[in-house]
Amino acid sequence: MDLSFDQLIQKCKKCTNCRLRETATQVVPGDGNPKAEIMFIGEGPGENEDREGIPFCGAAGKFLDELLGTIEVQRKDVFITNMVRCRPPGNRDPQDDEMKACKKWTNALIETIQPKVFALLGRFAMAKFFPKFKISQVHGCAYRKWNRLFVIMYHPAVALYNGSFRDVLASDMKILREILDGNESRIESLDEARSDIKELLERKRETNKEKKSQLGMNLAK
Ligand code: URA
Repeated sequence: MDLSFDQLIQKCKKCTNCRLRETATQVVPGDGNPKAEIMFIGEGPGENEDREGIPFCGAAGKFLDELLGTIEVQRKDVFITNMVRCRPPGNRDPQDDEMKACKKWTNALIETIQPKVFALLGRFAMAKFFPKFKISQVHGCAYRKWNRLFVIMYHPAVALYNGSFRDVLASDMKILREILDGNESRIESLDEARSDIKELLERKRETNKEKKSQLGMNLAK
């Protein structure tokens, strides 16, 4: 898409590529600095975002602003967007085909803004770049991929449901600060992460095989 930032936003606002637009009030393309070095990617607009047309302007957004304050980053200096840009009805999880339909906007925003660092908020944003990762294992980790840096964090909304996650998110956010300060030692090896995941998947497969053969034995009794 060879469009200026403003043209891209205007085009995105007219999108009707998936069913979410039928129930949403408006498309919420993203908000912030068109030349941001940091891009935050969340999940999808909630009720407030759907009404206001601005991502992360509700309760999760207030907490995100608070977290940004702890690392002395201002919202006006970053760009914030979501995996889907129309509110999923009842705030349900975005579905695969909806994220697929919205991917062209995510990719076009990345191409236009060219952020150097991505803060991935929650498992859906994480899965776009690291589909095999498990957020419980990699939140607070930073990786380099395609010459860009990615910091994986829990979604701020988790702390609204479980207050004990506030501290976890604050320490995830601190990793972003370290990455912005150029602390290379904070960047994890992707190869190691991949081999950990391979091991985990193999273990899971073995357990499932054992469970299946146990079930077979029980049924044969
Ligand atoms: N949660 C998200 O993932 N995105 C928003 O814009 C608001 C809440």
